[in-house]
This record gives sequence, C-alpha cells and structure tokens, in this order.
Amino acid sequence: MDINRIGLIGYGKIGRALAAHARELGLEVAFAQDPVAQADDVKVVAGPDTELYEGVDLVIECATRGALAESLGLVLERTNLLCFSLTAFSDDALLAQAKEASQASGHSVFVPHGAILGLDGIRDGRQAIEEVSITTTKSPKSLGLNPAGYTEPTVVFEGSTRDACAAFPRNVNVHAAIALAGIGFDRTRSKVVADPSVSTNTHRIVINGNGLAWDMTISSFAAGGVTGAYTPLSACGSLDRIVRTGGGFSFV
Ligand SMILES: NC(=O)c1ccc[n+]([C@@H]2O[C@H](COP(=O)([O-])OP(=O)(O)OC[C@H]3O[C@@H](n4cnc5c(N)ncnc54)[C@H](O)[C@@H]3O)[C@@H](O)[C@H]2O)c1
Repeated sequence: MDINRIGLIGYGKIGRALAAHARELGLEVAFAQDPVAQADDVKVVAGPDTELYEGVDLVIECATRGALAESLGLVLERTNLLCFSLTAFSDDALLAQAKEASQASGHSVFVPHGAILGLDGIRDGRQAIEEVSITTTKSPKSLGLNPAGYTEPTVVFEGSTRDACAAFPRNVNVHAAIALAGIGFDRTRSKVVADPSVSTNTHRIVINGNGLAWDMTISSFAAGGVTGAYTPLSACGSLDRIVRTGGGFSFV
C-alpha cells in the first residue's frame, strides 16, 4: 500500500510511539488530533478536521472508543484507517458502518493485533471455532478501580464480550479484537479479574473447535496507564505491515 503521509487521532503513549516510528520509516506525520496533547514535533488539532483526513494516506486512531466512533465515517470517506480502540465495534451499527464505508469508498480498515498474538490465526480458523473465552487479569488501578477496595483477586466482570466492552471500554480491546476476528461479540465470553498483587496485564485466551484446542497466555508489564509495554512495539509492527502490504478489511 502506498503510504507516505499519516495522521494520528490520539497523541498519547501509542500515538507518540507510532509517530516516532513513522518518521524512522520516512513517512510524514501530518497531524495529531488530540484535545489536550501538546507537541512541538507535529501539528496538533483539537477535533475532527476533514481537510486534514483528505490529505493523508492513513489515519491511525489511538485515542478512545468515543473518538473512533466520532471520526470513523469522516475518515473512511477520505482515507484508510488503523484503529486501536476496538471496544467501539461492540456497537453493531458502528461495525456495519465501518464495513459499508470501507466497501463504498475502497478504503481499508486495519485491525491490529495490539496487546496479543495470534489474531491472524484466529481469523483463519473462525469457521472451525466453537468456543472462545478470554480472562484478563490486571491490577485494580490499571482497571480504573479504587485499589483500596481489593485485597485479593476478584472477578469484576463475567459475561459476553459485548457487555465487557461496555463495562471496561479502555481495558478489553483485546477481547474486542478476538471477537472481531473470531465468533463475534455475543458468543465470545469475557472475564476480568482485579488482582492487587500483579503489575502485569495478563490475557488467557482459550479456544476450542472442530479439530482445534488452543490455550494462550500473554503477559506484558503495565508501564503506567492502560497500555502494556508490548503494545507500542506491536503497533509499530502493524504500521510496517500496512506500509508493505495492506488492503480490504485486514488484520495487521
Ligand atoms: N487494541 C489493543 O490491544 C490495545 C492495547 C492497548 C491500548 N489500546 C487502546 O488504544 C487507545 C490508546 O492507548 P494509549 O495507551 O496510547 O492511551 P493514552 O491515554 O496514552 O493516550 C490517549 C490519547 O488520546 C487523547 N484523546 C482523548 N479523547 C480524544 C478525542 N476525542 N480525540 C482525540 N484524542 C483524544 C488523550 O488526550 C490522550 O493523549 C486506548 O483506547 C486504549 O484503550 C488498545
């Protein structure tokens, strides 16, 4: 895919890592849309700007599910989109809009593997997959909960991934990615555990199906905020794959 100029929605941890990596790849970072971020290495705008979207080959959303919902249609009419706040797609109307706008415009929606591994394999096997469950264990603080209320590991959510996305929109993007790649938001089962003794983000993904049984545990260190240390590296790898290949509704 011919990517020369990119724009960012969200200029926090992932956005800044991607901007630095994009410059290393020789790409121009045309803007960062962020209502609060300050930067002297990129033009910062506070809200959606269709002229700016028009002028880039790829917009990368790494902000919030609200920001993705607000910008998705405006972006896809004009250019390609890589998005990280995947819990937004638990809203079926937004997911349908993404697929329809991508088809109508010919622009691509890229779903990154983000904090986990194996999204491509889950996508490939989706017809054979019968059951998917994901358990995420994080510190109460990382889940946005008051640490004083948790003295031992506590299940704070158990149910469908669709409901998990509503309950913990900033923390279950991994669940949303797996639901999107696999058997959907209602059949994918989610559990969230608040554990005061951990400083890691751990995701255990158990998948069973016709001729397959997978059990993956992925841990990364929570380097402050909601995003583990691995995700910015993974995001840069996804950008590499888009620049090299890309197209359609792809998992990168
Ligand atoms: N898919 C995955 O595996 C995965 C993994 C980690 C994080 N994430 C998600 O990626 C997103 C970014 O993560 P991060 O660690 O960089 O977060 P961060 O908090 O470091 O940065 C987010 C930035 O978005 C900005 N922002 C807030 N509202 C905005 C809006 N309406 N428009 C534009 N910008 C806005 C904030 O000011 C902030 O600078 C979050 O939604 C996070 O949940 C996804």
